[in-house]
Amino acid sequence: MENHRKIKRLIIGIISVFLVGSFIWSCTNTSSDNGKEVKKEVKFDKDTKKCISCHKDHNQGESIIKQWENSTHAQMGVGCLSCHKANTDDVDAYEHEGYTISTIVTPNDCAVCHPNESKEFQHSYHADAGMIMGSLDNVLAEVVEGHVAFNDGSNPAAAAGCHQCHGSKIEVLKDDDGNALKDSAGIVKYDPKTWPNTGIGRINLDGSKGSCSACHSRHDFSRELARNPENCGKCHQGPDHPQIEIYQLSKHGIAFYAHKDKMNLDSKSWIVGKDYSAAPTCATCHMSATEDMPITHDVGNRISWTLRPKVSEKKDAALIAKYKKLGKELPADFLSWEQRRDNMKNVCKNCHENSVIEGHYIQFDNEVNLYNEKFGKPALKIMKLLKSTGLITATNFDEPVEWDYFLMWHHEGRRARHGASMMAPDYTQWHGNFEVAERWYTKIVPEIKEIIAKAKRTGKSKQAIEVENALNEILNSDMHKWYVGKMSSEEVQKRKESAAKYRERYSNE
Ligand code: HEC
Ligand code: HEC
Ligand code: HEC
Ligand code: HEC
Ligand code: HEC
Ligand code: HEC
Ligand code: HEC
Ligand code: HEC
Repeated sequence: MENHRKIKRLIIGIISVFLVGSFIWSCTNTSSDNGKEVKKEVKFDKDTKKCISCHKDHNQGESIIKQWENSTHAQMGVGCLSCHKANTDDVDAYEHEGYTISTIVTPNDCAVCHPNESKEFQHSYHADAGMIMGSLDNVLAEVVEGHVAFNDGSNPAAAAGCHQCHGSKIEVLKDDDGNALKDSAGIVKYDPKTWPNTGIGRINLDGSKGSCSACHSRHDFSRELARNPENCGKCHQGPDHPQIEIYQLSKHGIAFYAHKDKMNLDSKSWIVGKDYSAAPTCATCHMSATEDMPITHDVGNRISWTLRPKVSEKKDAALIAKYKKLGKELPADFLSWEQRRDNMKNVCKNCHENSVIEGHYIQFDNEVNLYNEKFGKPALKIMKLLKSTGLITATNFDEPVEWDYFLMWHHEGRRARHGASMMAPDYTQWHGNFEVAERWYTKIVPEIKEIIAKAKRTGKSKQAIEVENALNEILNSDMHKWYVGKMSSEEVQKRKESAAKYRERYSNE
């Protein structure tokens, strides 16, 4: 069935390119862009002409038409039907002025002409970003902050929040017989709980994942827009993954904003070191081409860690574990974390020498390992123990220590790791490591001590002692023993001497 559809689509694609070749009207479209006159040759096929003339007459989205007319697609004769044409058996197909179309255009529709980009994208974490239903974050949206059943299941916290970045599961409204509902103009009604949406991992009615317009806004579908850091910043920002803020504060972002006019952002070819050299953008490092590496639409191909979880792992660890469990060989296209890191270094080397690149990765690895060993692993261990001993309930987020732990790994711990990966020292230090330590020593540890004391009072001393021993073991370990007054006397002495020297220079306290 899936294959059958694909073949059908391919045929439609070939036919439409043919049609484009045989009935084309060309005209020079002059538009005013910031006062600059832009002249572009636009190719209209007869159907597109019809769509446009009626949409213009009815004042139905004149800007949409202008955006299309200014696009490379219009110059190449890729008309409205190349994307909007549907099969009559598509769930969201409708008859529209003699054409069978659908409003939503999926990666399968683009794949007819852009098979490589679509395949790479489907293979990426981006395409899977809609599959967050089982996550702890989703407990927040559906239970803690929101209410999944609110207003007939409209699930507002997820629909207007999470899903706008991650992607919704598109549905059409249906009558009791299961037929798609239509408006008075015969246009299929999408379920507003799921639409509009251009989340990166949108689950489409044809089974494809994602939305290309998450980065290539309709209807200009330009490379230029996608290369801008703000394009990624719609989603990659905020307290739990501040990539755009980090970039803006790094030397790379500073150079980009100072030299944006030298970045050649609208050039068809965009090879770092050849077409531009002033600064890298998000796309440069994660997607774009170098002299010996092509563009990729799989944004995971150049990263070696995942900095998202409670304890960071190498990027290939989950996949290796999965295949081991299945007792299967790794897939042929398997990329190890070392290969992924080499891909990223291939970008850096256009602007830096080895010592900078290798030195950066050593500083970055050390920071990730420090977070993991000092806070990530001990906190995970003790939080699990609190649950398994029943000293906290099985319900998530009903106790303060769970909120503090969540803030430690999901916000502050990520910020520390993200800051180090992309060179924003303030994120590594004051928004990161400092807040992790503050959260651990002034919130999580005191809260655990309180839980232990309460358990002892309420007849759960066996469990209380088990947790107490685990906490003591952590606090007496090398990296934490300063907190229980057990720093070695040599170190105490050394710190005193250097503090005295510092005071001599900077203050007379
Ligand atoms: C004779 C006039 C006419 C022609 C021809 C026409 N349209 Fe439309 N179209 C409309 C009007 C009017 C609406 C708005 C209807 C409404 O909102 O209920 C519309 C709405 C749409 C929508 C939006 C539906 C939604 O989900 O809100 C799409 C997509 C669309 N047209 C695409 C096309 C394409 C592609 C073509 C050419 C193949 C085309 N139209 C030809 C008049 C026309
Ligand atoms: C390269 C593919 C492509 C082409 C060509 C294209 N569209 Fe679209 N169109 C889209 C995508 C993608 C969307 C957004 C729907 C989605 O998110 O899947 C869209 C949405 C629309 C909408 C709803 C927009 C809104 O914001 O309400 C209308 C109307 C529409 N297109 C009309 C047209 C018309 C008319 C043409 C020809 C002039 C055209 N499209 C050409 C891909 C295309
Ligand atoms: C502003 C856009 C945005 C919103 C809103 C958002 N997320 Fe995310 N989410 C992201 C980005 C971007 C990442 C990846 C961050 C990274 O790689 O550092 C992410 C990562 C995640 C992850 C980790 C996936 C993994 O591979 O480990 C989960 C789970 C998640 N989000 C769930 C949710 C849920 C549930 C909500 C709503 C309560 C939500 N997100 C709201 C953008 C968003
Ligand atoms: C995460 C953002 C993002 C998403 C999602 C995305 N793209 Fe892209 N795409 C880009 C960027 C950035 C470029 C420019 C790369 C360059 O030239 O350096 C690009 C370039 C392209 C190009 C031009 C390729 C070339 O060789 O010059 C095509 C075609 C394309 N994308 C198609 C798609 C299709 C189809 C999808 C959906 C399956 C898609 N893109 C999804 C960011 C994205
Ligand atoms: C009928 C064929 C066809 C379809 C369908 C199609 N494209 Fe294209 N697209 C082209 C051609 C031809 C070019 C010009 C080749 C180039 O510039 O590399 C192009 C160029 C592009 C570019 C580069 C534009 C620039 O110059 O900045 C992007 C991005 C892109 N397409 C994305 C998409 C997306 C996303 C979809 C689906 C929503 C899509 N295309 C559907 C044929 C198509
Ligand atoms: C100078 C190159 C460079 C630039 C520019 C850059 N990044 Fe990164 N990015 C990296 C490196 C290096 C890593 C860590 C790679 C690794 O794990 O080995 C990374 C990691 C990431 C991750 C993975 C985070 C996680 O939680 O696992 C995301 C997401 C990301 N970057 C997004 C962005 C976005 C969005 C931008 C622009 C706002 C951007 N990057 C700009 C080099 C760059
Ligand atoms: C519409 C929202 C959205 C946009 C736009 C977006 N991303 Fe993402 N990105 C996400 C989400 C959500 C995730 C986490 C997916 C997951 O792990 O399930 C993610 C993950 C990533 C990752 C980690 C991939 C991995 O394999 O671990 C990188 C790197 C990344 N994005 C880079 C980019 C870059 C570069 C851009 C812009 C060119 C961009 N993203 C645009 C939402 C977005
Ligand atoms: C297009 C060129 C370009 C690329 C690609 C690039 N950088 Fe840079 N990098 C710069 C520029 C410009 C500076 C600022 C130099 C300065 O101000 O002294 C810089 C600065 C740095 C710094 C110093 C940061 C500081 O605050 O002093 C480090 C470290 C660095 N880059 C590492 C990397 C790594 C690692 C990669 C690859 C993941 C990379 N760069 C990719 C251009 C680039």
